[in-house]
Amino acid sequence: MADSGLLIDMRQIVKTYNEGEPSELTVLHGVDFYADQGEFVSIVGPSGCGKSTLMNLIGMLDRPTKGAYAFNGEPVYAKEDKELAAYRSQNIGFIFQNFNLIGRIDALQNVAMPMMYAGVERKEREERAAALLDRMGMGDRLHHNPNELSGGQKQRVAIARSLANDPDLLLADEPTGALDSKTGRMVMDLFHELNQELGKAIVFITHNPELAEETGRVVEMMDGRIAGVRQPGGAT
Ligand SMILES: Nc1ncnc2c1ncn2[C@@H]1O[C@H](COP(=O)(O)OP(=O)(O)OP(=O)(O)O)[C@@H](O)[C@H]1O
Ligand SMILES: [Mg+2]
Repeated sequence: MADSGLLIDMRQIVKTYNEGEPSELTVLHGVDFYADQGEFVSIVGPSGCGKSTLMNLIGMLDRPTKGAYAFNGEPVYAKEDKELAAYRSQNIGFIFQNFNLIGRIDALQNVAMPMMYAGVERKEREERAAALLDRMGMGDRLHHNPNELSGGQKQRVAIARSLANDPDLLLADEPTGALDSKTGRMVMDLFHELNQELGKAIVFITHNPELAEETGRVVEMMDGRIAGVRQPGGAT
């Protein structure tokens, strides 16, 4: 366990795509990124500046070209791929702009899926999935498939799914990007609730400056570097 309270501790992260090929492209140039346990941080910056690339690294979906990453005090890159995948599914929940739900199964089964990989038996995972959907206000849509749900409803299913294995960290990549402003507001309110009531740390990528201002810290990226860090409405 970390005694520092740091959940994410990334140092000097470099990411180069297509290394050694003519198309080689370095998109992160030595990024230091931190987040405390239970912190709500946003990442902003122009399209192409490297936000999703950084998010994929925070989410252990990819490995950097250089750099170190400790999660909850544990060195992430010491783990082999299979161990890392299991570690990720226990510790991190993902929410994407386009929901990434599985189309042929209902809301309940979408939310139960990550628990199946975690070895939870069927009855328990379905009960927990139903409870999570109920908490998201989706208790009357358990057996609807994604194509029978509105955008806001799909995102609530995706948020319920992100909570399936009770992770410490939620990673949201433009979660309101495909929603109208009223529905986006509702999703943002859910994030505040999960942060304040369940103590989830949240890293939130957004192109919406007003939503970023609602989080505890705003990290501004530019051309693969951290260009600035602000604490809206608080001391720096
Ligand atoms: N798998 C990949 N292979 C090669 N280049 C990539 C790959 N993924 C991303 N890139 C490049 O890396 C740069 C950063 O992309 P990234 O998706 O991280 O940007 P972003 O800040 O999330 O942008 P947006 O706001 O548009 O989502 C871009 O120039 C992109 O073309
Ligand atoms: Mg992106």
